[in-house]
Amino acid sequence: MQVKYFIGIASVCTALFLGACNGDGNSNSTQPQEQAKLQPIVIQGALPVESEKMAAQLDNATVEMIGEWKFWKGTYKGYPVVISKTRMGMSNSAAATALAIQHYKPIAIINQGTAGGHDPDLHVFDIVLGKYTTNIGTFKTPNKPVGGGSNALEWNEAFDVLPDDESDPEPIAIRKFEGDKELLLAAYKAKPNYTKGQVVEGTIGSADTWNNELDRIKQFHTVYGTSVEEMEAASVAQIAHQFEVPFLGIRILSNNITNNGAYDPATGEACQEYALDVAEQYMKAKAAAK
Ligand code: 5AD
Repeated sequence: MQVKYFIGIASVCTALFLGACNGDGNSNSTQPQEQAKLQPIVIQGALPVESEKMAAQLDNATVEMIGEWKFWKGTYKGYPVVISKTRMGMSNSAAATALAIQHYKPIAIINQGTAGGHDPDLHVFDIVLGKYTTNIGTFKTPNKPVGGGSNALEWNEAFDVLPDDESDPEPIAIRKFEGDKELLLAAYKAKPNYTKGQVVEGTIGSADTWNNELDRIKQFHTVYGTSVEEMEAASVAQIAHQFEVPFLGIRILSNNITNNGAYDPATGEACQEYALDVAEQYMKAKAAAK
């Protein structure tokens, strides 16, 4: 495998609180100037179980629909935050990301949610911080004749959909998007508060595929260095990269068939709690730097 790069608006302000809501959805008059001046951080989750708990913790939240994509805009501990429900998969998450960047001009984007383990040393409820995030669904397959069959274990050439040289019709490379250093720093500050499992750095692999073939999973783990797989983060990273918006993937293991780790739906909420904490730490550092 060649490696080229490592590289409708509905206000939830009730009549009771209406007087407290201003145009920014920001009611706290004692809020420091620095917090109010920051652009919002976007935290994404694909499914309701990966987004609604965070949304419920926003103050003065308003709900905005753009097409089928749902956004909650509000504040968390005084910091501007947008929660985005991207829906599942690479296309949905790319669209949600582009819309969020254009609409909210975010200071940073966190893509978080559940994932399946590729590393036998990781267990359900462990969290992977995406030092790297990579697309594990783009390939140039070997040539085979009619009747020659198909064997994904022989797909040894990754296809880079974001080549520097756009005149190359077959750019062969694994592209890895690096997690933003300041977001990673914030993730480390939040780490001591997470007690349901380990928090480790690793590589998040994304594709519109749920892999249950252990040989295939082992190959991704070995060749791409994947810790986990899911269906959105690399797509978000790819869009954020092109808009130069800082990005970090944060994924909790909800299942790990490499060590018989059974699916646990409670992981979705656990990851949301941690991601909100990371966002708070990041915004605190940004406010202090102003
Ligand atoms: N493989 C692929 N996606 C997974 N997800 C959780 N576990 C896995 C797995 N083992 C996430 C995806 C998608 C939904 C199916 O859950 O990101 O949003």
